[in-house]
Amino acid sequence: MAAFIVEGGYRLTGEQRVSGAKNAALPILAACLICPGQVRLYDCPKLRDVENMLAILTALGASWRQDEDGALFLDMSTATGHTMPQRISKEIRSSIFMLGPLLARFGRAVCTYPGGCEIGNRPIDLHLSGLSALGVRIREESGLILCEGDAMRGADIHLDYPSVGATENIMMAAVAASGVTYIRNAAREPETEDLQAFLNVLGCDVSGAGTSNIRIAGGGWRARSAVHSIMPDRIVAGTLLCAAAITGGEVRLSNVVPQHVGSTLSKLREGGCAIDCGEGMVRLSAPPRLSEIKLIETLPYPGFPTDMQAPFFALATVAEGTCVVVENVFENRFKHGPELMRMGAVYTQKDRTAVIRGVENLTGTQVTARDLRGGAALTIAGLKARGVTTVYGAELIDRGYEALDAQLRALGAHITREESL
Ligand code: UD1
Repeated sequence: MAAFIVEGGYRLTGEQRVSGAKNAALPILAACLICPGQVRLYDCPKLRDVENMLAILTALGASWRQDEDGALFLDMSTATGHTMPQRISKEIRSSIFMLGPLLARFGRAVCTYPGGCEIGNRPIDLHLSGLSALGVRIREESGLILCEGDAMRGADIHLDYPSVGATENIMMAAVAASGVTYIRNAAREPETEDLQAFLNVLGCDVSGAGTSNIRIAGGGWRARSAVHSIMPDRIVAGTLLCAAAITGGEVRLSNVVPQHVGSTLSKLREGGCAIDCGEGMVRLSAPPRLSEIKLIETLPYPGFPTDMQAPFFALATVAEGTCVVVENVFENRFKHGPELMRMGAVYTQKDRTAVIRGVENLTGTQVTARDLRGGAALTIAGLKARGVTTVYGAELIDRGYEALDAQLRALGAHITREESL
């Protein structure tokens, strides 16, 4: 098991360019299946989840290479399979994104129930009911989900909940349906807009992403090749800002869309940070100790992102006053809490609510990442804590951050990685 070894007490300063967004790259890699030719993607982050998606595409017959300029070049012309490899598909939740594009390209798809971080039940009922509204016949056999959709037709689909993944899956399938599809109560996360932009580069006709109503005019697409740049990662940006904030640091991040991190910035300001935004840039200067952040309540975008809950939990453990954290999106996303408690954090939790009383400082010890963002939170806590914190399970953190240790080191953190502890 790999671990981050963090020596706390060093103030982060300097500049960092934020990588491309994992949550945009994963559905866009799936959407490549729709293209019968070549795709060039810029700013695709180098992450374990991305490697797994590429492995699934390879198993389906596609090939890819990383060009010298860092761009990812995919040849989708040779993709012929519609049955997803079971082992890798089980490892990442995003394998479910393949359903829509496989249906669009081949009219059929076979997959298993997807895996991913254990942060709740994460059912896929909204994905499946959306696809079935498009006329896809779905049955389950020996743990496999078998979909047939050679005659998909446009539909008016109202999502019970604005699920990001279900919205994106339906968008990708609907491009091949006859007629027009509307997704109502669609997720408004910025990553849906990046997917829309990519689908339109492929020659599809999608509009409305970023609002609650998305319109997809189906009936085919024209482009045999596509070039697209993945949008900046708003969660990586938020995580780096939290890392700087907990150390009383001062950082400038480039490749950020300030509007995408609006709710994160608002909470950092509440904690006493001075923040200055410009075109594609955010600068943060934090006080020696953060002031009270009263409430963190996760909601679908543009509300406070569930992916930023764990990093703010870490901040609240050493901020002044008391912070109430309400996790509305995933029911099991406080696994970092008991680990932070081992470092001296003081909090109580009941169901989806945690109440954290800030202490002067934490103490370094051995902790274990239980999920991706929780692992980032433990690393952030280690930057502040007295002494040395060992964060086991760095592989989980690799799922969503490109060498987080190196990024933090570049800002002055004392952090190393050990491969087999
Ligand atoms: C995406 C993000 C993830 C983020 C989450 C919420 C990607 C690759 N991942 O995950 O980082 O934390 O959005 O912003 O983009 N739900 C159902 N039925 C479904 C689908 C979802 O009940 O069919 C529930 C989930 O269990 C969860 C809630 O809806 O409670 C939100 O899930 P969803 O928006 O779908 O998140 P993901 O797309 O899985």
